[in-house]
This record gives sequence, structure tokens and C-alpha cells, in this order.
Amino acid sequence: MFYAKINKMNSNKFLALTFVFAISTGMYAQKVNPNKELIVLKTKNTSAVYAINSDSMVYLYYYGKRLSNTADFVRYDGPPVGPIISAYSGKKFTEPALFAVHSNGLLSTELKYLSHNIKASGDTIETVNVLLKDKLLPFYITVYFKVFYNEDIIQTWCTYSNNEPGTVTLKKFASASIPVLSEKYFLTKFYGSWFGEMKMEDVELKQGITSIESKQGVRTSHTFNPSFIVSLNQPATETTGELIGGTLAWSGSWKLSFEKDAEGKLNIICGINEFASEYPLKPGDEFSTAPLLFTYSSEGKGLMSRNFHSWARKYGIQDGNQLRPVVLNSWEGNFFEFDEKKVIAMIQDAATMGVEMFVLDDGWFGSNKYQRDNDAMGLGDWDVNKKRFPKGLDKTIEEAKKQNIKFGIWVEAEMVNEKSEVYEKHPDWVLKENGRPQYAERNNYVLDLTNPQVQKYVFESVSKVIVQNNYISYVKWDCNSPVTNPYAPYLQANEQQQFWVKYIQSFYKICDSLIKTHPNITFQVCASGGGRVDYGSLQYFHEFWASDNTDALQRIYIQNGTSHFFPAISMAAHVAPVPNGITQRITPLKYRFDVSMSGRLGIELLPSTLKPEELIFAKEAVRTYKNIRPIVQFGNLYRLVSPYQSSLASLMYVTDNKDKSVVFVYQTQRMFGDFYPNIKLQGLHPDKQYKVNEINVDSSSKKSFNDIESVYSGEFLMSQGLNAGYWGKQGVLSVNLMSEFASAVFLLEEVK
Ligand code: DGJ
Repeated sequence: MFYAKINKMNSNKFLALTFVFAISTGMYAQKVNPNKELIVLKTKNTSAVYAINSDSMVYLYYYGKRLSNTADFVRYDGPPVGPIISAYSGKKFTEPALFAVHSNGLLSTELKYLSHNIKASGDTIETVNVLLKDKLLPFYITVYFKVFYNEDIIQTWCTYSNNEPGTVTLKKFASASIPVLSEKYFLTKFYGSWFGEMKMEDVELKQGITSIESKQGVRTSHTFNPSFIVSLNQPATETTGELIGGTLAWSGSWKLSFEKDAEGKLNIICGINEFASEYPLKPGDEFSTAPLLFTYSSEGKGLMSRNFHSWARKYGIQDGNQLRPVVLNSWEGNFFEFDEKKVIAMIQDAATMGVEMFVLDDGWFGSNKYQRDNDAMGLGDWDVNKKRFPKGLDKTIEEAKKQNIKFGIWVEAEMVNEKSEVYEKHPDWVLKENGRPQYAERNNYVLDLTNPQVQKYVFESVSKVIVQNNYISYVKWDCNSPVTNPYAPYLQANEQQQFWVKYIQSFYKICDSLIKTHPNITFQVCASGGGRVDYGSLQYFHEFWASDNTDALQRIYIQNGTSHFFPAISMAAHVAPVPNGITQRITPLKYRFDVSMSGRLGIELLPSTLKPEELIFAKEAVRTYKNIRPIVQFGNLYRLVSPYQSSLASLMYVTDNKDKSVVFVYQTQRMFGDFYPNIKLQGLHPDKQYKVNEINVDSSSKKSFNDIESVYSGEFLMSQGLNAGYWGKQGVLSVNLMSEFASAVFLLEEVK
């Protein structure tokens, strides 16, 4: 249900479903007025009020702060904000969610309400289905809302069903349209590139359409992330302002459009990108769209993020209630320069540092003919690289067992090199436009996942890696090329436009089989860094690699942007070597740890390159992280000062019962003349007393907070705050972070 699918549906089943909907309408609807029946979605803090109008269509009247009583909407005769879903209708010329060419050639769709149904699953989740039909033709749309009461999150998607005598072609098939009415609208976009993901930009939406999209097929989120914030009336801050935040759960090409129409209304349309992707529905076929997750906040972006995070930990990612291990990943320490001896030494060093999981990245595999010596060969051949590991991985894994450290492995199963045995045997398994040059990004050809034989190969390859090396407990799933040469040999010529959707459906199918077959494996999704950071992937994965950029300074920005929708527990953040491979920047080891410790901590360097004092610090930092890990990974995030606003950036996590908190403060680049107001903490209990300690100190830290009895009330810490931009002597709640790349971490513990 969570991913798009095409299903054959016979018409009897369809009629039966309609009947069930009709019956259930009577059971659940608040029939106050026959002309204005309401459908109300309620969460702890929000309400959405839809009403069935006298023209038999369903409209949104209200979405915002929770209303205690919605009955007045029955009598209210003002205009609605907009339809529950917008279809191109022949009288409305703004961007629709649905544009279908019907079997008789009609280009318009005019919808009417048939029925709705509300189903509770447990105490806190309700699914509302609203069945609509074209007024003339047997073409149906069911709009679904899954309402997560405690988290204030609504998941919406729809199915388009064709019961016409001939094929209906979906030219545009978005998941949702959310109509909004306010005086002004401000869009926060999340954009970037490889090495620079999740930058943020705020723009006022003026009349016309603003769209952001990906056409890359498998890179969902490098250029733009499929997430948005629309602030109403004025730009929202972290703590103030009304907004709607949303994120599309789809790992392929997508599009989000924001159209301010002539009446000043905004229509937000989110879904799979229709570019080069029209979809034919034969009689009896049904198409389910990708889910959109959205929330409303009247208290700014911080609350919005916390809504998404608590939803994600519970429903959106794999095992969101289980702490993640500290990882040592081999990539940036070795790249392709390693052998068994070096890896074994890394495992031993990792264990000494207190690391819990060693991940062997790219380069460990190949075939007899093509060993993976570099990125131009071996991809697709999933035997162990005999040059590096002459007797297989057994000895390496034995060492991991001996050191009591878990073992993870890298795969890139959706792609192959031209120099691979699998490609030589099956040249028709890759996307290929006969007669045109074959493009390869990073020497990769993209496999035709629409082909069931290829799906089997991918599943079996990864399964084999896991089973043959039966100690593996973590798989990093990489994907280093966008879709190039978009022609799937398995599909017919007239089916090629369906490729984009079918590829992602197949990817999800493979992931689903893998997590079911190997339920104890932790899966990381990666696509040249942050190319696939979306809740479509994350339903099968535990975490993502936020960026290939591991420069601590830039990570502050990337992680800040990413944190708007994705929780710390899912955000892998690794301490890398200096000078940084990409930026050449040299930052202190403490700074790198302090930045990584605000996410899922990992290390990605050769421990043997650390100086003895650095090794001691790293070991202690890992120990410190384990202590604060539950606060970071399960806690509630407050972004205190944005790196975009001040060179002194800060964030904190607070436990649910507000007994513990961790505060991170980072100096980015202070310019002379920059002065900093106190950082006021958030989310604490005003009446609780907290002991404040600086933790993760190194020789450069002054340990000012440890030297004195620093116990303060939550109220004091939230109103007076701490001063981190203090030139003078450090003292009570004052710490000098005035120099570039200075940082501090504070642990707050309730004193009872
Ligand atoms: C891209 C990933 O983002 C990196 O972390 C690393 O796994 C390389 N691929 C390996 O080729």
C-alpha cells in the first residue's frame, strides 16, 4: 500500500467496494445536513475539515489548529478553500493533480462524491477513504488519508481506477493537491547537489507556478529534496509562524508545484513526475500514487520537524525504536587502497576505539575476470575480490567476531560496470537506447529492474552476500548513477513511458523481499551520498548517508537542512580525515566529533593515522556518545541557532520526559564585529533543575562547566540561556567559542 502499484481489478470487486463504501458512509458520517456532510480529520493539535457540498463534490474548508467543534461548518456558506483533489475539468485551468485522457477521448474529468469510510487501526491511527467518480464516465478516484493522531501527521495518496470500456491515459497522476488560503505564502525549498545537499532557500510565492522536481529516475534528492515548507502570511521561524510542511515518499522522479492563482489561493500539488511518463490504465486497472506526508504547525519549523521525527521513528523508518551502533566505515580511510591485512588492522583499531560495527565499503568484491580494483570494473559480480582477500572474507569476519564487533558490507546492486562478467553475459539487462551512445556515470550502467530476471538477480546477489558471510548484520546500499539511456529492453516500445514508475516499484519489491528475508540486517540507503533521502526508501531502510561531503563545517549546514524532515537516528554522520578530501579544510578532531555526534555517529578514517592523543580523544568521544546516544537518537530536536543566521550555530535534543538534554554549539566562521546573544535553550521543563556539564572536552576545551556546581532551572536556561560568544574569562554558563571551528557539547541532567 505504501508504494505505487498497478493492479488489475475486476469490475465486480470494484462494485462491491463501492457498496461497502456506501454502507460505511451511513455508519460513520456526521449527517447533520444533507447538503453539507462533513469529513473531519483530527489529530492531537490539528483539524482538517472537508465537506460534501450541494454540487456533490468534496472540498477542504479548513486545515489548521485543532478545532474543538466543527459543526458550524455545516451551516457555513462561505467559499471552500479548494477541492479534495483537483482534476483538469474543462472549467478550471490551474495546474491539476490529475489529467486523464478518457477512453472516449474526453480530456476533462468532473468529479462527484460517492461515499467515504473511516477505519481505525489501534487507538491512534485512522484511515479515511473518500470515493469519487467522474460524473459521466466510470472513472474513479479514491483519496486516502492516514491520520496519525499523536504525531499530527497526515499521510495521503490516491488510487485512480478505470472502469471505462477502453484505456484511460494518465498524463498527470499526482498524489495530492492541498489547497491553502492565506494572505501571503513563503516557500522553503531544499536544494543542492552532490556534496552540497539540503541547502535552504526561502522565496515568496507570487502569482503563477513555482515547481521543483527530479527527473533523475533514482536520485530523488540530490538537486532538490521532495520536501517543502509553505509558511502562511509571513516566513515562519523555528518557534513562530503557521506553516504546512510536506515530504513525498517516493524514490524516483517527482514534482512539487505551488500555484498561486488569480484569487490568491495556493494549490500545492505533489506526486510522481509526469515527465516522459504517461500511464495507460486498461479497463479494470488501478494506479496507486506515492504517499505524501504532511503536517501543520502553528509554532514554526521546529515543531514541524519534531512531528516528522516522532512519526518517522514510529512508522517511517525501519526499527526506529532501536539504538544504532557506532560505525567505522572503511571508505574514506582507504578508498580502493586496501587488502585483508589493512582491513583486519582497522577492525582491531575500531574495537579499541569502542566502535560497534565495522563496514567494509566499496572494493571488496568482483569476479575472477574483473576484480574491483577501481570504480571501472567488477560492479555486478558479487564474489569476494581474491586479490584483496585471497581466501575470502572468513579471516576478516573471524577477526570481527574475535573483537566482538559487528560486520557490515557495501553493495551497489542496481548497477553494473561494462567490465563485469554479468554485463558480458547479459548485455540486455541494462538500460540501453540502441543506436545511441551508452552513457555511464561513474562507469555505471543502470540495470533494467523492470525485468523479473534482473530483479531475481539483484535480490539473490545481495542475499548471497549476506548468507555466505553469515556474520553480516549491516548492508550499505549505494546507487551512483542517475537513470541514463532510459530505455528498458524488457518493456515493449509502447510501454517505455511506464519505465520510471515500474523501476521504483521493482526497487521497492526487491527491498521488501530483502528486509523480510533478512529481518536482522540494518540497511543504509545511499546514492552518491544524499541522493536518495526520502521516506519512500526509508520504509525499507534504517538510515541514510546524508552526503559524501564529510567536511565538518559543511556538514553543519547539510545536517541542519536534512533535520527539517528526517530524525537524527536515521542520519549517518561520520568523522572523516583532514584535510577533507573534498574541501581540503582542516578542522579539529573534536569539532568533527561534535558535529557527527549530533546524528548517528560513525567514523570514516584510518584509525592508524591518528596521533596517540587523538586516538585517546576519539576513544573517549565514542564512550561519551554512547552515553548521550539515547538522547540524540530518540530525543526531540530543537534547532536553537541556524548556521544560516549566525556563525555560532546551535541545536539540542531533549528526552520525552525532559529529564535529559544535549546541547551542541559550533563556531563556523566568526568575522570581527560579530557578537552573539545568549543561546536560549528550548524544550526543557521550566520547573526542573538541571545540572549542566560540558562533555566531550579535549585539551582545547576549558571545561568551564565542569569546574563548578552548575545547576539551573529549566526556566532560567530557556530565558537567560548560555553565552558561547564570550571573549573574557569563562565562567558560569559562559564559554568562549569565538575562534573558528571551536565547539562545545553540554549535557543537562535533571537533579531531583
Ligand atoms: C558513494 C558513497 O556515497 C560513498 O560513501 C562510498 O560508498 C562510495 N560511493 C563508494 O564507491
